[in-house]
Amino acid sequence: AKEYQFILTSRPDPAVGLVTLNRPKALNALSSPLFNELNEALADFDADDSIGAIVLTGSERAFAAGADIKEMKDKQFSDAYKNRFLENWSALTRLRKPVIAAVSGYALGGGCELALMADIILASPTATFGQPEITIGTIPGGGGSQRLAHAIGKSRTMELVLTGRTFSAQEAERWGVVSRVVGAGEGEVVKEAVELGRSIAGKSQIAVQAAKEAVNAAFEQNLAEGLRTERRLFHMTFATQDQKEGMAAFAEKRKPTFTHV
Ligand code: CAA
Repeated sequence: AKEYQFILTSRPDPAVGLVTLNRPKALNALSSPLFNELNEALADFDADDSIGAIVLTGSERAFAAGADIKEMKDKQFSDAYKNRFLENWSALTRLRKPVIAAVSGYALGGGCELALMADIILASPTATFGQPEITIGTIPGGGGSQRLAHAIGKSRTMELVLTGRTFSAQEAERWGVVSRVVGAGEGEVVKEAVELGRSIAGKSQIAVQAAKEAVNAAFEQNLAEGLRTERRLFHMTFATQDQKEGMAAFAEKRKPTFTHV
């Protein structure tokens, strides 16, 4: 395994890659060096055929407290614009493997946006979400205004983004930002996320990838285009051995063995 300075990588299950943000002194503030490491680790897991799902987490205290304010403090417009500041953050959304965010503690600003870029979010009861950028004279820059609006509607998003108020794990669950809040025990949200990743990794990787592409089309295309995308991907699965194996196994009343071809 590679040695990183600001993240840890591991394989809690042979088919699940885990990336843990590890910059405790700054509550996992997402500096450029940290994000470069994160993108490298995610790309490595994504390219690894034996991995079927990726879990992304932080610490009990903080998933991530945002972009690194100390790094941004003196940044000039010309530098931000010319060097496309934060544009590399969205690499995560182009991964083929599903990414599950396991969120405990603060997920603020860029931390909230990072979670929103994942395919599934599980939250510990301690999770605190928010887009507090307005309180420091700026606005979300990692997709928060757009992804929150898609997830929870205009009025709530406006209120959160214009005031910077945080929202709890329970609110996040009620509003559909997270799929569920898990138990309170230490490390429980990561355990649950790994278990979820294991379940996904047991499926056909081709079908999982197609399903992810189809669901994402709902956020990127209009309904008619999205329905066409889904139908085409569905048709495509009939060209795979995994579809033949999956349906044969059902008919023969046995468990399928997917080979991802
Ligand atoms: N950037 C840089 N450093 C940060 C940080 C951030 N986003 N968040 C926390 N830290 C650092 C603190 O400066 C502090 O470091 P020092 O010990 O060197 O002073 C350390 O982490 C611990 O933080 P606190 O002492 O503040 O801890 P706390 O428990 O009192 O408060 C907190 C926790 C409420 C999360 C508070 O740290 C906080 O408000 N952080 C900033 C949250 C924020 O505004 N995030 C949005 C950033 S902008 C952004 O993300 C833009 C975008 O859309 C991409």
